[in-house]
Amino acid sequence: MDGAVMDGGVMDGPTVAIDLAALRHNLAVLRSRLRPGVRLLAAVKADAYGHGAAIAAPALEHAGADAFGVATPAEAFALRAAGVTVPILLFGPIDRGIAALVEADVALTVPDARALAAIEAAAPASAARVHLKVDTGMGRLGVAAEGAVPLARAVERSKHATLEALWTHLACADEADADDPDGLTARQVERFEAALANVRAEGIDVRCAHAANSAATLRLPGAHFDLVRPGLAVYGHHATPGAAALVPSDVPALRPAATLRAPITFVKRVARGDTVSYGATWRAPRDTVVATVRLGYADGYPRAAGNRGEAVVHRVRVPVVGRVCMDQLMLDVGALEGSVRPGDAATLLGPDGPSAAALADAVGTVSYELLTHLNAPRLERTYVDDAGAAG
Ligand SMILES: Cc1ncc(COP(=O)(O)O)c(C=O)c1O
Repeated sequence: MDGAVMDGGVMDGPTVAIDLAALRHNLAVLRSRLRPGVRLLAAVKADAYGHGAAIAAPALEHAGADAFGVATPAEAFALRAAGVTVPILLFGPIDRGIAALVEADVALTVPDARALAAIEAAAPASAARVHLKVDTGMGRLGVAAEGAVPLARAVERSKHATLEALWTHLACADEADADDPDGLTARQVERFEAALANVRAEGIDVRCAHAANSAATLRLPGAHFDLVRPGLAVYGHHATPGAAALVPSDVPALRPAATLRAPITFVKRVARGDTVSYGATWRAPRDTVVATVRLGYADGYPRAAGNRGEAVVHRVRVPVVGRVCMDQLMLDVGALEGSVRPGDAATLLGPDGPSAAALADAVGTVSYELLTHLNAPRLERTYVDDAGAAG
């Protein structure tokens, strides 16, 4: 992998290397949780959670992903331009550009009569494939469970829409029961089952129902229905260390696909009491060695990781000291006994470095936010595979 990002042992700048074999592994782990016949839609919104949808999605399709989920029309068109042929679902409703989306064979989310009216007004050349969204407790998008029947009937009546699925989104699947107020997950599943039964009782054919994100795919088989929609786990992550702890012990470990590395550009001795970086928030507790790394918050690394984050240098875990700057950060490499040189690589995230969940926990966020910053424009992205070949 180093061959793709280093030249003569010296890195030019920060890089994120995406391991396509890890994506395949994670897909297989997720698939192994499903009963036969349940399909898998991989969420590839936000540029495949920062992993680069144009490469990651075709690789996932090749590895057997049945469908993809995106947040914006532009993301859907980009998948088609990248050669994706499997079904795509747009997670949110839209008012404009409907005919072009239908022509690109993108299924549309309908959370209310307004969204259906927009489809009717667009009068696409062929009927839009509609996924009717039910809000069972997320409180974000969707018709209330009681409103599902009239909305489904309206879709059935429309000559511009065909009802393909009923779906919902879980708010607490990655929370321990103690953190899931009122057992919300179980109640969401019950409400969704009731809405589905009511629609079917009207004689309306709902071929597909879906509800499960990564956490529910890994730990709640009762929420799998006909299709699961994992995102985060496809890329090898859990939202937080707490969410990771909820995954049943017989599930094989996921493999983080992304490795964030950056070159050390400067190494110096600092005396006990010297301070480092803006605000002088870190004072050396002893004589030590500090390495400066060419990675900052403009490269997607969180500023909040100052005095909290960690890196791995020469296989040794070292702390980020002082504030993270726009383009640089500093590490206390005193533990490496003088073996660190400019040009050496520091790993800030990845299977051989800190996990996204641990860093997220340290800086008060979730791994999703950190990962979606991995497509910062200054990060050079490379793709590697089992054999270590750049893709
Ligand atoms: C509607 C919808 N489905 C599925 C997912 C995938 O969730 P996760 O990344 O937790 O697996 C998301 C992401 O937030 C989503 O918004």
